[in-house]
Amino acid sequence: MVEHKLTAIPNTENVEIKQGFIDRYSKLTDWEEFKKYCLCFLRRSIRVNTLKADIEETRKSIESKGWKLEPIPWCKGGFFISHPDRKDVGNLWEHHIGKIYVQESVSMLPPLALDPKPGDIVLDMCAAPGSKTTQMAAMMKNQGLLIANDYKGMRIQSLGINLQRSAASNTIVTLMSGTRYKDFQFDKILVDAPCSGTGTIRKSLKTLRIWNPSMLRKISNEQFRLAENAFLNLKPGGVMVYSTCSLEPEENEAVVTRILNRFDNAKVEKVNFPGLKIGTSVMEFEGVKYHEEVKDSVRIWPQDNDTEGFFVCRIKKLLDE
Ligand SMILES: C[S@@+](CC[C@H](N)C(=O)[O-])C[C@H]1O[C@@H](n2cnc3c(N)ncnc32)[C@H](O)[C@@H]1O
Repeated sequence: MVEHKLTAIPNTENVEIKQGFIDRYSKLTDWEEFKKYCLCFLRRSIRVNTLKADIEETRKSIESKGWKLEPIPWCKGGFFISHPDRKDVGNLWEHHIGKIYVQESVSMLPPLALDPKPGDIVLDMCAAPGSKTTQMAAMMKNQGLLIANDYKGMRIQSLGINLQRSAASNTIVTLMSGTRYKDFQFDKILVDAPCSGTGTIRKSLKTLRIWNPSMLRKISNEQFRLAENAFLNLKPGGVMVYSTCSLEPEENEAVVTRILNRFDNAKVEKVNFPGLKIGTSVMEFEGVKYHEEVKDSVRIWPQDNDTEGFFVCRIKKLLDE
């Protein structure tokens, strides 16, 4: 892990955390470590947009203005970024003109796991505001077709702005529920699903306040419906990635288990990322056993790499026999 200083978020010593949350996460991980990282500032990070900029030139130009950049080991062109005067990276000129994209370091993982290539036909089912769509357009060198879908009009606006700013020109934007796609044969699909966001507490403490275990069943069902429909719209031999910024087993291993049980031709493929510590998958939780293949999914705890928490799973649609 890259060494750096942790800074506690001020006035969080007595932050109220629901007992149910403490009990649940004490079963899932080292609660004290998890809590410590949840209550410390998150390192900012950027990704150089290779559709518009050269990685080394951009790095030098930003460093010449007093910023410190440190490569993110698992993403070429990704950097942790800081400034001695705590300047806001959103004010950088390179951000305004689309040479860089401000993106969490582990949010770069799902596109890397999907690995879209120039010429592929790709669906980003839950795309707004577009951090992963713009990353994929760059990976595809603007070749092939990338459909960026979301079902919230307001969020589609920021998606459109980000695509334009990043010069992503192989994209088409659609506005509907991802569950409504029918009879397509995509090479690759990303389902970066709506979730409870328990991996993002250090960015938004509000998540702790609104956390409520009774909402998990509903969210999990919606996530399954999106993932199920993604699988149906993959060509044989195609690949999907299911990801969330949640750490709840019901939203992650349970959804993947349902996909594996629903489709005989679904297979989880293991992915590795250089320099990233991956946590053990949850194989059983509160009396529910998950499919053995979920062991090959990627569970990221904030305390393991000093990042947000994330879950990523690459699922292949096997060729028909
Ligand atoms: C985690 S966010 C996606 C973040 C995005 N992939 C990125 O990296 O910038 C989840 C998105 O799913 C969208 N969403 C929720 N339900 C949906 C549905 N049924 N169909 C399509 N999109 C949906 C939300 O509007 C939200 O923008």
